[in-house]
Amino acid sequence: MWMGIDVGTGGTRALIVDEAGVVRAGFTSAHAEMRMERPLWAEQEPDDWWRAAAEAIRGALDRAGVSGNEIQGIGLSGQMHGLVILDGAHEVIRPALIWCDQRSQPQVDFINRTVGRENVLAYTANPVLTGFTLPKLLWVRDHEPARFGRVRKMLLPKDYIRFKLTGEFASDVSDASGTALFDVVKRRWSFEMTDALGLDRSMLPEVRESREVTGRVTAAMAALTGLAAGTPVVAGGGDQASSAIGNGVVQPGVVSCTLGTSGVVFAHMDRVAYDPEGRVHTFCHAVKDKWHVMGVTQAAGLSLQWFRNQLAPGASYDELTREASGAEAGAQGLFWLPYLMGERTPHLDAAARAAWIGLTAKHVRADLIRAVIEGVCYSQKDCLDIVVSLGVPVTSVRASGGAANSAFWLQLLADVLDRRVTTLQTQEGSAYGAALLALVGTGRYASEEEVCGVAIREVSSRSPRPAEAAVYAARHAIYGELYQALKPIYAKLS
Ligand code: XUL
Repeated sequence: MWMGIDVGTGGTRALIVDEAGVVRAGFTSAHAEMRMERPLWAEQEPDDWWRAAAEAIRGALDRAGVSGNEIQGIGLSGQMHGLVILDGAHEVIRPALIWCDQRSQPQVDFINRTVGRENVLAYTANPVLTGFTLPKLLWVRDHEPARFGRVRKMLLPKDYIRFKLTGEFASDVSDASGTALFDVVKRRWSFEMTDALGLDRSMLPEVRESREVTGRVTAAMAALTGLAAGTPVVAGGGDQASSAIGNGVVQPGVVSCTLGTSGVVFAHMDRVAYDPEGRVHTFCHAVKDKWHVMGVTQAAGLSLQWFRNQLAPGASYDELTREASGAEAGAQGLFWLPYLMGERTPHLDAAARAAWIGLTAKHVRADLIRAVIEGVCYSQKDCLDIVVSLGVPVTSVRASGGAANSAFWLQLLADVLDRRVTTLQTQEGSAYGAALLALVGTGRYASEEEVCGVAIREVSSRSPRPAEAAVYAARHAIYGELYQALKPIYAKLS
C-alpha cells in the first residue's frame, strides 16, 4: 500500500492506494478557518495543518484496516505558495501567509524595481505575483523585522509536513516553481533572485524531482501517526501538479480543470512555453523533466462557499445547485465577477473585486446562485483561452475537485468551455496524485506515464449543448468587458 497526503486549504486528506492505484480508504481532517484579519489577507497555522495531517494519517490507516508497516511509500501534495518560516530551533515564527493572501503588492513593485521585470521573467519564467511566496517573505521583512531576523528556513505548506514527518528540509520542483525564487527552466533555485534581493540562500530547502525520495519517517513521528519508522517519503508536488498526475494529465492533449476553493486549468508541456504577459503560470510539472502551464481563478468554489456562508447558511451545495438549475441559462442577464480574492488569470489584479452586475427586482435567489456558477465557468474559460493561444493542444477537458461531483456544474462547464468535459473513476485529485508519485518513487512503476496508464480511467463525459453554448459564448464576451469597465474603479477602491 502507498499513501498520498494533501494539505489543502479546507483540510488535510490522507489516502491509501494499492499497487494498481485502487483507492482503499481516505480520511480528511478539517483545518481551522483561514484567518482574514483584513480584506485580502489570509493566514493559517502550520501546526494546525500538522494536527490535521496526523489525524488524517491515523484515520486513513484505521479506515483501510492496514497497519503502518504495510505502507511502502508516502507522497506529499499541498496548497502552493504559502510562506512557512522557522527559526533556529525549527519553531514556526508566525502564521503562514497562504496562497490567496494579496497584501504584498508593494513588495511585488519593489522586486520589479530592484531586480527588473524582464530579469524576473528571465530568471523564473514568470512575473512575480502577490500570491507567490517571495513577496510574502519580503512583507515580513518590511513589516515585522524582528520576526524576519529570526528566519532560518522558509518552507511551503506540504514541506512543513515533510519536516515534521522526516526531519528533512526539502521541496519539489513543481511547488518551488510558485515561490518566484525558482529557475523553472533549469529546475533549480534562482540564486540570481536571492542575491539581487539580499536574501540568505541557506533559508531555502533542497529541491528534488517529484518522484524522488527525500527522507524517511522518524521513530517519534511513527509513534504519533501509526506509520512505520523508515517509511520513505517522496518529494511530491504542489496541489495542482499532483492533481494533474491524479487526473492523468501527463502528456500533451488532455487538459484538466480542477474546481476546488480555487479553479485551475492545467496543461502538460514537453517544452517550456510562456505567455509573454504572464497571465498563466509556467511551472515545472511533477512529471520528471516536464513542465506545465496553468491559469488560476482565485475564487472558484470559494465563490459558492461565500454565497452559502453569507446568504444561505446551513444549505448544502446540492441544494444550492438544484436551486440554480431552476434558473435559465444566463441568469436573466445577471453576471457574477468572481474576484473575491482579487484575480490571477487573466487580469493579474490583486485590486479586482467581486460583484453581481445586472440585478433587477425580477431576479430571485436561483439567478444569483446560477450567475455565481456561470461567472466561475467564464473565468475558467478565460484560463483555457490563454492556454490554447500558447499553441498547447487541447483534445478534451477532465474535470475534478468538489464541483466535479455535481452534474449541474459539469454540464455548465462543458457548455461554457464549448468542449467535451470528462470525469474519472477516481476523483481524488491531489492526494491521489501524491500517492501515485509514491508508487513511482519507490520503484513500483518506472514513470508517471506508466502508473497513470494503469490507474486512470475515464468514466463519464458531457458534451456541450449547442443552444446553451451559443448563449454563453455571447455572454462571455460581455463578462470580459465588465472587468475592463470596472478596472479604474477597483484602483480607487483599493
Ligand atoms: C495554485 C494555487 C492554488 C493553491 C490552493 O497556483 O494557488 O491552487 O495551491 O489550492
